[in-house]
Amino acid sequence: MKVAVFGTQFYEREYFNKYNIDLKHELVFFEESLNADSADLAKGFTAVCVFVTDKIDKNCIEKLAKLDVKLIDLRSAGYNNVDIESAKANNIKVLRVPAYSPQAVAEHAVALIMTLNRKTHKAYNQVHENNFSLQNLMGFNLYGKTIGVVGTGKIGRAFCSIMLGFGCKIIAFDIKENEQMKQSGVHFKTFDELLSESDIISIHCPLNEATNHLFDRKVFDKIKKGTMIINTSRGTIINAEDAIEALKSEKIGYLGIDVYENESDIFFKDRSQSVIKDDVFGRLSSFNNVLITPHQAFYTQEAVTEIAKITIKNFTDFEDNRVLENEVKI
Ligand code: NAI
Repeated sequence: MKVAVFGTQFYEREYFNKYNIDLKHELVFFEESLNADSADLAKGFTAVCVFVTDKIDKNCIEKLAKLDVKLIDLRSAGYNNVDIESAKANNIKVLRVPAYSPQAVAEHAVALIMTLNRKTHKAYNQVHENNFSLQNLMGFNLYGKTIGVVGTGKIGRAFCSIMLGFGCKIIAFDIKENEQMKQSGVHFKTFDELLSESDIISIHCPLNEATNHLFDRKVFDKIKKGTMIINTSRGTIINAEDAIEALKSEKIGYLGIDVYENESDIFFKDRSQSVIKDDVFGRLSSFNNVLITPHQAFYTQEAVTEIAKITIKNFTDFEDNRVLENEVKI
């Protein structure tokens, strides 16, 4: 099958070509993101393969349908950037990689917590400057702290088991409570209880209408003073401007984010020679208790291998008219 791979990252060609056994599929890699303006590049392709930076809205989908594209295959778990209803209306299938390595993302969430808490990033720089003072490096024990987990799906569960190992008390909120997790020691609570009781809140729910700006001014008013907030899910779940106000009032004591509302204009490119024009991002990154990573939580050897294998399998399932086990349905 002929596939246009959009938003290609530097590491992806190697992995995709490796698992495209016998060159079964003709993969053409584009660095451009897919959106309504670039959709014409998909002319002559049966499928488009897209990443989190691509914006496949109604306009884009209607253009793809006119070009006779039959498949949108996401090489990500989240699918908030694709208008699923429009795809269905235009008879275009949408596939994704629902699980490739929940541990990769969960472990990165823990890395954000540990860095913010024990300030290893600051110590690293200090020691390079021959500054061996302990001033400003004090952290806190995770043992005995209350961790609030919002969304206890695959990543949330992996995160809970790591934090249980630290000796933390885990409380969780999900629209569907998980019996097995209750038995492992996770206590399900209402969202408001989670907000008022947690020392650290880690977000692992998907971005959808209900979670869009779920963490806003009203929510930040309900958290304990000094709470650490971690978001490795999707940027728009946190209202960034409200988070800035909560950081200024010290309601948020630490913020660790791997995702940012307007990240598609910033992340996944070396912009070290450019001026960042996003003032909200600029203000956020100016706080010394804010740690931002560039949507790298998934980026481990194991996860990238799985993404490539499952994405290629999705192409083959579609081409060979097999059951589409990774189809996004509404
Ligand atoms: P999942 O589908 O296994 O779990 C999501 C959980 O959130 C489910 O238990 C669901 O019931 C719950 N949920 C849905 N709506 C909710 C709400 N309003 N409030 C509370 N809980 C709610 O998904 P998985 O694999 O755990 O991934 C979670 C998210 O992580 C993805 O949607 C994606 O946005 C993000 N992600 C981020 C990556 C990164 O590199 N930073 C990589 C992979 C995923």
